[in-house]
Amino acid sequence: MERREFIKITSTAACAAALLPSVGGLMTGCKDLKDEGKLPITNDSWNFDEVVDRSGTWSIKYGRASEGQIPMWIADMDFRTAPAVSSALKERLNRDVLGYTFTPEEFYQSIIRWEKEMHGWQVEKDWVAYCPGVITAINQAYLTFTEPGDGIVVMPPVYNLFRMYAERLGRRVVDSPLLFNGNCYRMDFDGLERILSSPNIKILVLCNPHNPVGIVWDPDDLRRIASICRQKGVLVISDEIHADLTLPGHRHSPFCSVSDDASAVGLVFASPTKSFNLAGVSMTAYCIIPNKELREPYLKHLRDLKLNEAPIPSLVATIAAYTEGAPWLQSLRKYLQSNVQEVVDFFSNNLGIKAIPPQASFLVWLDCRTMGLQQEELMRFFSNKAGLLLSNGAMYGQGGEGFVRMNIGCPRKIVKEALGRLTQALEIVNVMK
Ligand SMILES: Cc1ncc(COP(=O)(O)O)c(C=O)c1O
Repeated sequence: MERREFIKITSTAACAAALLPSVGGLMTGCKDLKDEGKLPITNDSWNFDEVVDRSGTWSIKYGRASEGQIPMWIADMDFRTAPAVSSALKERLNRDVLGYTFTPEEFYQSIIRWEKEMHGWQVEKDWVAYCPGVITAINQAYLTFTEPGDGIVVMPPVYNLFRMYAERLGRRVVDSPLLFNGNCYRMDFDGLERILSSPNIKILVLCNPHNPVGIVWDPDDLRRIASICRQKGVLVISDEIHADLTLPGHRHSPFCSVSDDASAVGLVFASPTKSFNLAGVSMTAYCIIPNKELREPYLKHLRDLKLNEAPIPSLVATIAAYTEGAPWLQSLRKYLQSNVQEVVDFFSNNLGIKAIPPQASFLVWLDCRTMGLQQEELMRFFSNKAGLLLSNGAMYGQGGEGFVRMNIGCPRKIVKEALGRLTQALEIVNVMK
């Protein structure tokens, strides 16, 4: 599609969310979001303090860790999934019926309800479709809307696979780095406007909320992005896989909900796999595309490649998570917030490393630049001296050097053990200085 063609079309219905009052009560199996403070961290059905044995489960996270190392890298959590999800999957398997399956009405309705009640966005059924995983779905958008050599803009430091697959598909990746003042990040609108004005830029990939720096983007920033992109005829892919994991005090804004411009240029990709810890039930995601001019070619592309047919576990897990999973998720978010606090407090007392407190999800971005180590030495320090396997900040692109990402989606006991190991390792380093 010509890059300026789609900008004439808009869907005003997508903007309804901007007019909605803030979410007061989450009816999806949850009593009331306002009661968040009163929800128990554990109840009879779940206990995030439990250390779950992942051995023999083909866990990628543990598979890469050497003996005795604590793996705190890839973004899955060490908790059991929500009981509502596992019982729905067990129940379905107990029927022994695993033939070809269509996407049922409940799938669409569970997503529509969830977006409305969790994020205040009124979505129409036509806008929603199953997708085979967020990254696969984003890659299909690259293929649908760009040609080899076309420009795809990313905002580093950012989730590395946006760049990796764009490059593998022969697209030109252009950086619009986030600005960092030593404490927090923001978008560089002037730089972005310049970049989007250069020839053949077709797509901007937004990480909303942002992995690895943990920002929940402000709706005003999103509106500004949408307005610039619409003027320049650039599509916005909004990856919202971390959206359900906003930490207390922060609220996610689905990109297409923020303005007419956003619903004209945006494609939202989301999934329950991060929030309900279902990454191994892969091929589980969905897209929400209000603009028919974007939706139709995209869905045709998925159909042409037979990527539109959802596997049974994806359907069952999504419906169960979004219909009955909210109380579990509320407790999880509180638990994660306490883990984050533990880490932030720890680093506020330990010179050399500074934690950037995330506003969403279970990943903490650590600024280690004052340790004065080269990136490889830094990674060796964490893995060999502290016995922690963390994600290397450099892989997230410009601005990632001198940083690491720590996954705290695990029982508090493990977080404390990791911090204890770090204390010892840092003491040794300081003694040797
Ligand atoms: C921002 C972001 N998008 C996508 C993914 C992966 O999604 P999927 O497994 O559905 O491809 C991740 C996983 O960490 C992520 O952080």
